[in-house]
This record gives sequence, structure tokens and C-alpha cells, in this order.
Amino acid sequence: MKVVHSIEELRDQLRGQLRVAFVPTMGNLHAAHLSLMRLARQHGDPVVASIFVNRLQFGPNEDFDRYPRTLMDDIQKLEGERDVYVLFAPDERELYPEPQNFRIQPGDSLGQILEGAFRPDFFMGVSTVVLKLFSCVQPRVAVFGKKDYQQLMVVRAMCRQFQLPVEILAHETVRDPDGLALSSRNRYLSPEERTEAPTLYGLLQQVRDTVRQGQRDLPVIEAHVMQTLSSRGWDPDYVAVRRQRDLQPPKPDELDTGEPLVVLAAARLGATRLIDNLEFDVLR
Ligand code: PAJ
Repeated sequence: MKVVHSIEELRDQLRGQLRVAFVPTMGNLHAAHLSLMRLARQHGDPVVASIFVNRLQFGPNEDFDRYPRTLMDDIQKLEGERDVYVLFAPDERELYPEPQNFRIQPGDSLGQILEGAFRPDFFMGVSTVVLKLFSCVQPRVAVFGKKDYQQLMVVRAMCRQFQLPVEILAHETVRDPDGLALSSRNRYLSPEERTEAPTLYGLLQQVRDTVRQGQRDLPVIEAHVMQTLSSRGWDPDYVAVRRQRDLQPPKPDELDTGEPLVVLAAARLGATRLIDNLEFDVLR
């Protein structure tokens, strides 16, 4: 694997390549990231990964400074899997040589709801850096995880609306055996919190089962899960059952017509904010 830090070296390595498959990350790689690389390998050649902790997508009180930076370990993991041909690991001066005044604003209906409501500039920061990375790497396909469901939808909408010639592939959420979705932020959890953390996914499964059993009052179901989380010591931001296609609340009749749904949640456990989601439809 070639590790490059500059855009110029990256372009040198990729000259003439028309089937590049790309996996952007912020590093501190775990098994889910490596699985995304494997999927990329099946859909393009060469595979390019990036590691860049993007300040633009962190809020002023978020964990930008303490976000785990483990480049040497990450390189070893990627070398071990042999799926990645080039790792692009720019520093801030390389990717943001001047203040980033041109920024992508995802619209209100997708960018300002759910995660966007609690992290105001988050999707602006994600879209802007993803566009910049796409412009450096010029991939034909790029892989994103369903763990960050709304991010995946924002990136898809951006590619559609800017006619970017990049196909976005979605990778299923990778979980530990107890259900907790893998995340770089899981390492912040204390042992007690780690034991409690799978509750979030358990409650999403309960929401799915409750809707399938015929309960139709989604706000009541959502409020109940919020209360359960609070009573177990969590600080929930949202629990929401939405349509997969646009993340808007389903109309009452859509619950009986098999509209594909997804239940999404974000909640803080101690100092760690976890997000998760579960796709389902009422009719199975
Ligand atoms: P990061 O959190 O490092 O995640 C990189 C990719 O791995 C994302 O597409 C994310 O959805 C996916 N991923 C993480 N954990 C996963 C899991 N348990 N199962 C499946 N996929 C998982 O997401 C980002 O970085 C950044 O916002 C980025 C897109 C790189 C822009 O800065």
C-alpha cells in the first residue's frame, strides 16, 4: 500500500485510473472500516482509502481535539487486509490551504433534521469535505456505511444534485455480537457504559416489533423509548421512525402499504454520544 500525504502524489499514483473505488474515513479504523474496504475491492480497482479528521464537521463543543488519531496502527491494519492500494492521509494545510469559504449546504429537509437539528453544521462539514475528497480522488464508486444513515443520504443527494459521476454504495452496519454498532467513539465508553450501550440497538428492535404488531401511534412509541433511555441514565437527543426514502415521517396510510421505514436514534451515555438505526418494513 502506498501512503501519500499530498494531492500531487495522490494524482501521480492514480493517473489514468478510471475504476477507482474510494472509502473516506476519519481513521482509528476498526472492523467495520475494513469491511467497507473489502466491499470497495469488489466494485472497483484500485481501492483508495482516506484518513482525515475533518474539523469543519465538528461543532465547537464536540470532540475534534480528542478524536483518536492512530495513523500508524491504521496503516498496519490496512496493510494486513491488502484491499487498499493507496491511502490518502493529508494534513489540514494540504486539504484546507486557505479558509474554506465555499461550502456545501444540504437543504433544510435533509440537512437540518435529526442529526442536523442537534449538530447544526455537521452535514455542511461532511458534504464539503466529501466533495473535496471526491475532487482529489475522482472515484467511480465510493462506499459509505449505513451506521451513519443520514450521512449516506446526504452524500447521495449531493452526488445526484451536482451530477457527480460517482456511484455511492451502502455497506450494512457492522455490530459487535451483543448488537452495539462498531464506532471509533466506543473507545470512550467506561466498562459499565460498554455493558449498557447495546440497549440502544435493543430498543430500536423493540420499536420495529411494536410497529409490526400493529401499534400505529409513532410519537407515542418514540416518546416511550426516549423515557426508557432517560430512566436508564442516557441523555437521548431523538428517537424517530421515518421513511427510508427521504427521512420524513411516514403518513398514517403508509404504515399499512409497506413503505420502507427506518428508526433512527441518537443518545449520550456519559460523555459519549452514540447513534444507531434499523431499517424495517411493517409487512416484513
Ligand atoms: P468515519 O466515522 O471514520 O466513518 C467512515 C465510514 O465508515 C463511514 O461511511 C461510516 O458510515 C462507516 N462506518 C463506521 N462505523 C460503521 C459500522 N459500524 N458499520 C458500517 N459502517 C460504518 O463518517 C465519517 O468517518 C466522516 O463523516 C467522513 C465520511 C469520512 C467525512 O469526514
